[in-house]
Amino acid sequence: TSSADITRLQALIRTIPDFPEPGIQFRDITALLADADGLTLALDAMAEGLAPGDVDAVVAVEARGFLLAGGLAHRLHCGVVPVRKPGKLPGPTLGVSYALEYGEDRLEMHQGALRPGARILVVDDLIATGGTALATGELVTRAGGHIVGFRFLIDLPELGGAAKLAARGWSPRALLS
Ligand code: PRP
Ligand code: ADE
Repeated sequence: TSSADITRLQALIRTIPDFPEPGIQFRDITALLADADGLTLALDAMAEGLAPGDVDAVVAVEARGFLLAGGLAHRLHCGVVPVRKPGKLPGPTLGVSYALEYGEDRLEMHQGALRPGARILVVDDLIATGGTALATGELVTRAGGHIVGFRFLIDLPELGGAAKLAARGWSPRALLS
């Protein structure tokens, strides 16, 4: 990915102050998603270094991760396994609860969704504190999957999420920070 490509992608992301609550600088990717060239560029860059046959499934995090996962899985010729908020998956699930800045959240994945030893790429739009990504990694591990890597569009490094994943032995990669 060239620095011109990175500049183009950056121009398609808006920062909205104080959304959804005071103090949060919200990175809005809707204009990037709506731009055919921008979306193609982002997905090509997120798939960089991986080829069809390298991963058995993309595990995608609700909701914004879903918007990137299909395109990435298509490039890597694999399927998509959703990780969802509680009560959305109809079958028996595995669940992981995790702490937010205030309170707690929970993510679920269908039991049996991964073949034992399946090589998994975890995809989301953004990593901030890393709570979501760590919980997803935990779910994949408990389901018997092997994490090949994590790919994000955006890393907010000051919030420490990518460092937490690296400390856990996982390799996060993001296009923009
Ligand atoms: C956002 C984002 C990541 C997560 C990152 O999702 O899409 O999944 O937060 O934050 P963290 O690293 O601090 O865990 P959100 O929970 O806002 O849900 P959404 O995708 O449904 O909007
Ligand atoms: N999820 C967590 N923090 C975020 C931020 N600053 N912008 C967009 N999504 C987020």
